[in-house]
Amino acid sequence: MKLELLANGLLAGLASASFAKRTEQVADCLGNKNVPVKWENSPDYAELAETFNLRLTYKPKVIVLPTTSQHVQDAVKCANNCGYKVQARSGGHSYASYSAGGQDGSMVINLQGLHTITVDSTTNVAQVGGGVRLGNLAQGVFDQGKRAISHGTCPGVGIGGHFTHGGYGHTSRNWGLALDHIVALDVVKADGTLVKADSTTNSDLFWALRGAADSFGIITNFYLNTHPAPESVTYFSLSWGNKLYGSQEDFTNTFLHLQEVSLNKSVIDNRISYGIYLDGAAAYNLGGTFFGTPEEFNATVLPEILRSAIAPNAIVVQAYDWIGYLKLMSDVNSIEEPVEGYDQHDTFFAKSITVPESDGLTKEALDSFYDYIHQDAPISWFVIINLYGGPGSNINSKDTTFAAYNDRDSLWVFQNYGVTSDQTGIDFINGINDAIIDAQPETHFGAYLNYVDPTYSAETAHELYYGEELTTKLEALKGQYDPKSTFWNPQAFGQ
Ligand SMILES: Cc1cc2nc3c(=O)[nH]c(=O)nc-3n(C[C@H](O)[C@H](O)[C@H](O)COP(=O)(O)OP(=O)(O)OC[C@H]3O[C@@H](n4cnc5c(N)ncnc54)[C@H](O)[C@@H]3O)c2cc1C
Ligand SMILES: *[C@@H]1O[C@H](CO)[C@@H](O)[C@H](O)[C@H]1NC(C)=O
Ligand SMILES: *[C@@H]1O[C@H](CO)[C@@H](O)[C@H](O)[C@H]1NC(C)=O
Repeated sequence: MKLELLANGLLAGLASASFAKRTEQVADCLGNKNVPVKWENSPDYAELAETFNLRLTYKPKVIVLPTTSQHVQDAVKCANNCGYKVQARSGGHSYASYSAGGQDGSMVINLQGLHTITVDSTTNVAQVGGGVRLGNLAQGVFDQGKRAISHGTCPGVGIGGHFTHGGYGHTSRNWGLALDHIVALDVVKADGTLVKADSTTNSDLFWALRGAADSFGIITNFYLNTHPAPESVTYFSLSWGNKLYGSQEDFTNTFLHLQEVSLNKSVIDNRISYGIYLDGAAAYNLGGTFFGTPEEFNATVLPEILRSAIAPNAIVVQAYDWIGYLKLMSDVNSIEEPVEGYDQHDTFFAKSITVPESDGLTKEALDSFYDYIHQDAPISWFVIINLYGGPGSNINSKDTTFAAYNDRDSLWVFQNYGVTSDQTGIDFINGINDAIIDAQPETHFGAYLNYVDPTYSAETAHELYYGEELTTKLEALKGQYDPKSTFWNPQAFGQ
């Protein structure tokens, strides 16, 4: 026993000695190449290391602040040679704080210095730096030729995580996911080389990056298809408030009706996207966007929704110009964000459920969901259930040959979100998933990559996010492109 302890002590000592040596090596390497970096003793370090989700904080060994692709290449080469783990940080909004490494002691490459946006006036393809936030992206492409892209609504979210792991907004059933707009990428590979990846050059890497970029490289530039920004879109919102919290029957029947409407070809096409929002303060809203006029919405979709037994408390149907609409969605006066010093945070645990269109949600699952959220919750929580599928959906018009993105057959995607810093809150949110999933045992539910849930093992995460076929393919590509697992987080490929 004593010998064993002694041996363990010696091994730990050796490990920390070799870690200290590696730190020295990586510092020399970065210094020799003049890569801009911040170490723990730098006055800027604490702010730069701060995660969006304050529930999960990590201490990177070194934070790299590249202003050129060469800096990214040099940093990755140093990390790869010295045995460091690397993650890029774009907007820093990872639910699991993986852009802080997902552990202490990683190299974080903060891409905030790569923030240019240039729309080619001939092709209308936008070249966008890997550190650009969504609000600046939307405003940037609009200012350069009135262009638009489909993506989520929070202006502070970064392109790097959002576009490479899906990216849903209320334009997605019309224009596809954010990811679907990517036509090419500039990417730094584990060996430090910078390559272009598109459907003909490095096409297997291009496939893998769109779904699993965190495991395969650092994207320095995105090339994105854009759409002409619509002159006007229709925002709609129906609020039932606590009317749907009074009886299980009303709650379940209303949802089942909305699900039927969502599958009805005579009312639903690609031009509409929406989600249902509910929370612990008894809110229940259906809100979304229609690429058409309020008159058309009122004449076609609205009456079919209102055929539900319970009348909403309030209905808003209103046309907005493009930027006005984006501001409304984000609930801000300006969608632009500072390039440096972004400082918004939350302390939370969230997870997701993807519901296959072949099954939808059953009465049993909805009843069970209702019962669960009607207990006294220990935390403040909300659930958003977005429509991905249904007639004409351009999210589901693609398959897994297009990109390493598996979620192309969901009707609904749930986000279950709790403001919490402790296990009680985590347990409560896990309970929402269980209430639904356990009540519908025949269905194969999955999970959505951009709501990454750190409580899953890598194996479970791969199964839920990618499924078996994609996992096998991605593991093989990982061995080929990053055999030392330099690009690492707790759920990356190549553990
Ligand atoms: C307030 C809020 C609102 C949200 N709203 C929506 C929404 O409406 N729709 C939706 O779909 N999702 C939404 N999300 C989820 C969001 O899409 C994800 O959290 C997303 O991954 C964040 O991207 P990021 O660049 O900010 O994250 P980061 O934390 O910077 O990165 C996330 C992961 O991607 C990797 N990565 C980042 N950049 C690169 C790069 N250039 N190259 C390679 N790997 C990279 C990181 O290493 C990390 O593993 C929201 C999140 C928050 C916090
Ligand atoms: C559409 O219907 C809503 C709700 O009844 C109403 O407030 C709005 O004025 C209508 N808009 C048009 C253009 O008919
Ligand atoms: C689909 O919508 C049409 C038009 O509102 C309606 O007449 C029809 O009953 C709906 N079908 C179902 C199955 O609800």
